Amino acid sequence: MRDMLFERNRLWAERMLASDPEFFKRLHKQQSPDYLWIGCSDSRVSANQIVDLDPGEIFVHRNIANVVVHTDLNCLSVIQFAVEVLKVKHIIVCGHYGCGGVKAAMENHEHGLIDNWLRHIQDVYRVHKNEIDSLPIKNDRYRLLCEKNVIEQVVNVCHTTIAQKAWRKELKLSVHGWIYSVKNGLLKDLEVCVSHPQDLSAIYHHHGLSHS
Ligand code: CO
Repeated sequence: MRDMLFERNRLWAERMLASDPEFFKRLHKQQSPDYLWIGCSDSRVSANQIVDLDPGEIFVHRNIANVVVHTDLNCLSVIQFAVEVLKVKHIIVCGHYGCGGVKAAMENHEHGLIDNWLRHIQDVYRVHKNEIDSLPIKNDRYRLLCEKNVIEQVVNVCHTTIAQKAWRKELKLSVHGWIYSVKNGLLKDLEVCVSHPQDLSAIYHHHGLSHS
């Protein structure tokens, strides 16, 4: 196993050098990504590959079901570093259809420790229960919760002290909500982009969120 991965690494580094001899030298000096990607840990949803960007071009935080929790020091530290040090102007929350975390949150089976994490998605489900449960087809309910989860996490990013502070200082910062289809490899924009705190009220209105 180890040999296989190291061999793949060596060949990859060779290919990168062949196409751009200065690539690693340049990266070694500094990273200057324009985007922060908050996505799911799912092995099929690799940020760089989906948007076809090289190392150095996108700053990434991933966890199960792309959840942004206000007490999660890990996620908050990533957002703070991205916005205040790297000065990214775009935060992309990207979920995906067929998300195992979202599916598990919809079902009532026990999965152990992870159930505590999935509670955050169950909270999203509870807020949108009427709309989701009104869909007759189970797969449509599942897809809608995947989308609603992204939208809620966009709102959560916007409510962090980090985003609020950036906007108070009139820095350019946009938070986007996208969803990816593992079936066809394509992204869909959920059109919940927030570039000013005022944009949030339109999202509440459109998506029936019950936050204050
Ligand atoms: Co997932």
